Amino acid sequence: MEKDPSCKPLEDSFLKTFRTHSPLKEVRYIIAVGSGKGGVGKTTVSVLLSLALKEEGFSVGLYDLDFYGPNSSLLLSTKKEFPAREPDGYRPPLLEGIKVMSLSFMLSEREPVFMRGLMAAKLLQELTQRVLWGPLDFLILDLPPGTGDIFLSMLDLFSPDGFILVTTPHKLSLADSLRTVSILKEKKVPLLGVVKNMSNLFGKEEAFTKFLEEIKAPLLFELPFLEDLSEKETLPELLSDEEKKGLLQGLAKGILKRIFRFH
Ligand SMILES: Nc1ncnc2c1ncn2[C@@H]1O[C@H](COP(=O)(O)OP(=O)(O)O)[C@@H](O)[C@H]1O
Ligand SMILES: [Mg+2]
Repeated sequence: MEKDPSCKPLEDSFLKTFRTHSPLKEVRYIIAVGSGKGGVGKTTVSVLLSLALKEEGFSVGLYDLDFYGPNSSLLLSTKKEFPAREPDGYRPPLLEGIKVMSLSFMLSEREPVFMRGLMAAKLLQELTQRVLWGPLDFLILDLPPGTGDIFLSMLDLFSPDGFILVTTPHKLSLADSLRTVSILKEKKVPLLGVVKNMSNLFGKEEAFTKFLEEIKAPLLFELPFLEDLSEKETLPELLSDEEKKGLLQGLAKGILKRIFRFH
């Protein structure tokens, strides 16, 4: 497969050892999954990507940063497991082989402070420092919607190695995504590519093609609307269906091939 220059930063980073900056010293690569809009599939894609990387033999953490609607762990497992409180922080539970942490696990007592917004960045940093991930190959960040202060603070705090943009082909989602891409440029966060979700449902093909040209990023994969997704409790349950397994694993491998160049 031909090399895609837009994927270079991550490819190079395979030579990297652990991060040197606080608060994530034990994590090798941080991949952020975001959009600008809510309800477009960020969590679905974050969980799918986490499972795909785990299948490839990597140690994976999934950090649900969407305090408006924390739900990564729900999509991953029906088990209700919470982090273990230890003297120096919170140890994330292992669900389906993935270490899962959610801001909501740590926020219950302090939510009102966080929601006031003024202390948000500081509190986010403080809480993040208390997560005891242990050594991880990949940390996937399931970002909240929006491009406001919280989003900017998160990019500053984590300095992701790459960003995966999730959007539907609808013009409203594309408009929000354009704003997100401008911010990524400004913040120098590498945009790895776009996941087009519910690709068959709405939006004009031309609008999406124009969008890709405008942002100069590759299409990583197209995830059609999957009726079963709402019927099944979790994504692993959906993947246990042979037919879906083929489809979703194919898509997940598509991401891996395009981004990580394993093959
Ligand atoms: N490809 C898809 N097919 C069917 N339902 C989907 C698909 N992608 C997302 N959904 C559903 O849409 C809703 C929003 O998805 P979610 O991943 O939570 O979005 P976000 O994290 O961007 O808010 C969820 O109920 C999810 O199950
Ligand atoms: Mg979400």
